[in-house]
Amino acid sequence: MKKRVLGTDLKVSAIGLGCMGFSHAYGAPTDKKTAVETIRKAVEMGYDFFDTAEVYGTADDPHQNELLVGESLKDIRDNVVIATKFGIKFDMSSPEVNKPLIPDSRPETIRASVDASLKRLGTDHIDLYYQHRADPNVPIEEVAGVMSELIKAGKITHWGLSEADEEQIRRAHKVCPITAIQNRYSMMARWHEKLFPVLEELNIVFVAFSPLANGFLSGKYGKGTQFDGALDYRSAMPQFTEKGIEQNSDLLSLVNKIAEKKNATPAQISLAWMMCKKPYIVPIPGSRKTDRLKENLAAADIILTDSEIAEIDKALDNMEMSAVFGGSKIIKE
Ligand SMILES: NC(=O)c1ccc[n+]([C@@H]2O[C@H](COP(=O)([O-])OP(=O)(O)OC[C@H]3O[C@@H](n4cnc5c(N)ncnc54)[C@H](OP(=O)(O)O)[C@@H]3O)[C@@H](O)[C@H]2O)c1
Repeated sequence: MKKRVLGTDLKVSAIGLGCMGFSHAYGAPTDKKTAVETIRKAVEMGYDFFDTAEVYGTADDPHQNELLVGESLKDIRDNVVIATKFGIKFDMSSPEVNKPLIPDSRPETIRASVDASLKRLGTDHIDLYYQHRADPNVPIEEVAGVMSELIKAGKITHWGLSEADEEQIRRAHKVCPITAIQNRYSMMARWHEKLFPVLEELNIVFVAFSPLANGFLSGKYGKGTQFDGALDYRSAMPQFTEKGIEQNSDLLSLVNKIAEKKNATPAQISLAWMMCKKPYIVPIPGSRKTDRLKENLAAADIILTDSEIAEIDKALDNMEMSAVFGGSKIIKE
């Protein structure tokens, strides 16, 4: 399995596994036994970088995802890298399927969060701890100060920011160096490419979440696909509406054409495109199906040349496509 290095010392499989979907956002949660078996199969395939968050959970168990990840990896803890996140909760009073987010990065909240995450994950340290969203009420320097404290205490070894902009990255990095950012990135969501220079300057890795545009770029979802309006965020995502699917037909044709040429699948091309673009991009596609885990991991072996990538980017710049889901809205408590 090809590897990438986060920072100077955190070596991970070139593609990580986003574990959120086992519990949250993509329809009915997977039963615990199947989820644990699937994560174990992912390890056998070569995944060793697992992404979760304190808020990925089910209606019955709001923190279930960390428990699943912890249970799956407990006997091989030292062979894997676990990333989790702090700093938001969901507004459960909202009727929307994708509940608004309430940021909370007060130092006392973070200190309680890290202890609870360690307990659920069944480990004495978190390898990569992200602030899930910026908190407008807590300066990032204060958050970074708490991260230094947690590193000194041995509770975390590296940290990062999710959905970060350049100013937050620079300010945080000055107080306590950041190893990675985790931002949305796919052929449909390229607005964070403007961060490449600062990431290169500061040696920060770009962990790409929703790299398949929530599965859309796999080409396996079309006009007839139904999503559960109560549990599946895709029921409210613009790229999956009838109109969105029509607007994205050129995009899927492009990805299909390259897939055919490279003897690969559209999902693999979508992942290879970003991995071949920059050596410091690590996608973390999520899937609950072993055949797809295998398919996604094999994307690390596909080579797209600089000129092929430039051609794809030019086509993406000039084609019509729908809006893509940009995340749940952020509100104040
Ligand atoms: N930091 C943040 O704010 C944030 C936000 C969102 C996500 N994340 C992290 O990023 C990870 C990945 O993002 P994501 O799950 O939102 O989006 P994604 O990886 O772009 O897409 C996941 C969806 O695509 C489907 N899928 C995956 N591989 C496929 C394939 N080869 N063929 C067809 N369908 C496929 C999955 O369905 P099946 O499960 O049915 O295969 C799932 O519904 C999450 O698990 C989470 O850890 C972080």
